[in-house]
Amino acid sequence: MHSSRVILAAFVFALVLILAAVRPSSTAAAASVQTPAPAIQVIELKATKYEFTPGKVDIPIGTTVQFKITAVDHDHGFEIEGVKDSCVTIKKGETKTVEYKATTAGKVSFKCCHLCGIGHGKMKGEMTVK
Ligand code: CUA
Repeated sequence: MHSSRVILAAFVFALVLILAAVRPSSTAAAASVQTPAPAIQVIELKATKYEFTPGKVDIPIGTTVQFKITAVDHDHGFEIEGVKDSCVTIKKGETKTVEYKATTAGKVSFKCCHLCGIGHGKMKGEMTVK
């Protein structure tokens, strides 16, 4: 009985020594593998006559944005200013994803690029990259 306690105590002591030895190195390893800030940001946009909701979005510079645009009440479009051939048409009830890498600070507008009615020309939004 007594000897088994000694063995148990020795085992616990050894375990503590092992944990003390392992712990700092595992912490150091975890610290060296720094997880960068998420590089992809998903922004859900609702397209309705005649606006995008939200109509203004803020994006940290360097982020790749995934716009997930849902056409709620009608076929709409989504086009990013200055991005050639970026117009996509979104059928009513559907959601499409458009990626944009925000590399330059400033304001970038987006708009509906599918004729959707009398207010089509006013259907715009804006992202601020900073
Ligand atoms: Cu919505 Cu044009």
